Amino acid sequence: MISQILSDARRLEAERGARITESERPGFHLSSYTGWMNDPNGFTYYNGQYHMFYQYHPYKSQWGPMHWGHAVSRDLLHWEYLPAALAPDRYYDEDGCFSGSALPLPDGRLLLMYTGVRKELQPDGRMREVQVQCMAAGDGTDFEKYPGNPVLSENDLPAGASRFDFRDPKMFIGSDGVYRCVIGSRPADTSGQILLYKSRDGLHWQFEKILAENRNRFGKMWECPDFFSLDGKQVLLTSPQDMLSQGFEYHAGNGTLCLIGSYDEANEEFTEETIHSIDYGIDFYAPQTVLMPDGRRVMIGWMQNWDACEIREPDSPWAGQMSLPRELFLRNGRLCQRPILELAKLRSGRVEYHDVAVSGRLELPGVDGRMVDMEIRVRPKDPGKLYSKFAVHFAENEQFYTSFRYRPYEGTVKLDRNFSGSRRAILHHRRCFVGNDRAELRFRMILDQYSVEVFIDDGEKVMTATMYTDRVADGISFYTEGEAVMDIVKYDLRP
Ligand code: FRU
Repeated sequence: MISQILSDARRLEAERGARITESERPGFHLSSYTGWMNDPNGFTYYNGQYHMFYQYHPYKSQWGPMHWGHAVSRDLLHWEYLPAALAPDRYYDEDGCFSGSALPLPDGRLLLMYTGVRKELQPDGRMREVQVQCMAAGDGTDFEKYPGNPVLSENDLPAGASRFDFRDPKMFIGSDGVYRCVIGSRPADTSGQILLYKSRDGLHWQFEKILAENRNRFGKMWECPDFFSLDGKQVLLTSPQDMLSQGFEYHAGNGTLCLIGSYDEANEEFTEETIHSIDYGIDFYAPQTVLMPDGRRVMIGWMQNWDACEIREPDSPWAGQMSLPRELFLRNGRLCQRPILELAKLRSGRVEYHDVAVSGRLELPGVDGRMVDMEIRVRPKDPGKLYSKFAVHFAENEQFYTSFRYRPYEGTVKLDRNFSGSRRAILHHRRCFVGNDRAELRFRMILDQYSVEVFIDDGEKVMTATMYTDRVADGISFYTEGEAVMDIVKYDLRP
């Protein structure tokens, strides 16, 4: 039975979603059907299709009572919207169906696990959100909430953990066939921790242990965990709130964190070895991964920054995009990312230049557009003489441009959208460290109508930002202080 609240949302999204033309949307990034989108949820492969659910408020282009939006795809690049999957329509989730995950069940149904939120008046007069975990199952379009909900609540928390910060279950199946999930939690030290729960049937869950502890090292509360094996190691992804800046590695605000280590499944023991940021740009948060049938581990994040949401005009018909699907791999102990191979199928119009000298500003015939896949290799013209700056400007016309640039003396790459048509005084640039002594630097830039993702050194570091520059600004140019030489391969991307 579909509730009135869900059927109202479905009617509204069908009406408003249909009014948004293809040309108003990103070319190959998933955007909200209508209204607001945040975190990816329930990213899974089920009956031959990828399912992506998302945090969704169809009524407005601002965050509000959370529903789950829904889309499916066969190649992770062409998406078809399905009706909203969940609405806040039960007492235990009446103020929102927060983030969660999905897994196919042996009986053929798709199982969803999400956080139910209900506001509760506190003795001090404040309203606070009580967070519990809930299940729903269905055929991939319609889902029925489990009568035994909530399946995890404050009684299932370890000592000291807050019942107001207990969210974002991500399920997986262990090599022993047992269901497990990781959930974000706030311990007594007010920072964050990741809890591990186990279940035999996917419906009855038991607390197992505290899998990882923040101990106030990286921000505060840890949201949206994901936990999987990759290239012989174990990886824990999480998105810490309230980070403090630390050099060029961590930036203030909500960030993304990857912990690489080893996992002893028998004792459920995760040992951290290396820790670093996942994305060094402005707009990337709450990523989730899926294992593709051919064994590739692919990650998609919400391409937005909580503190910079106002970059979108308040009356936009859609607000919120997902990042490119990125294949994950480990190299030199780091989590690296590359755009999924399928993106190559959207390529056309190859343009190639070799050993192009750049000194000052340069435009190249055939190099422009707002849906572009471009690889650049850059090096000093005279190996003994460093240039002091190399920059690529894009989404450019007389008035606007967005850019990334490398300054060898500083060793940083900076992504900058100060001149992208934004009318808001919010965060518009970020820097990341790539090293000073680079004989050659490699970039791959994936540009869509309203976003840029820069993969540096074959995915060793990635910088992501949205920009809502008028689409007529489609120029690309190169700029150096000093003398550089570059090779370029550029394609148009056509969905
Ligand atoms: C992260 C988050 C999640 C929560 C959801 C609510 O962006 O805060 O922790 O489930 O958004 O929309």
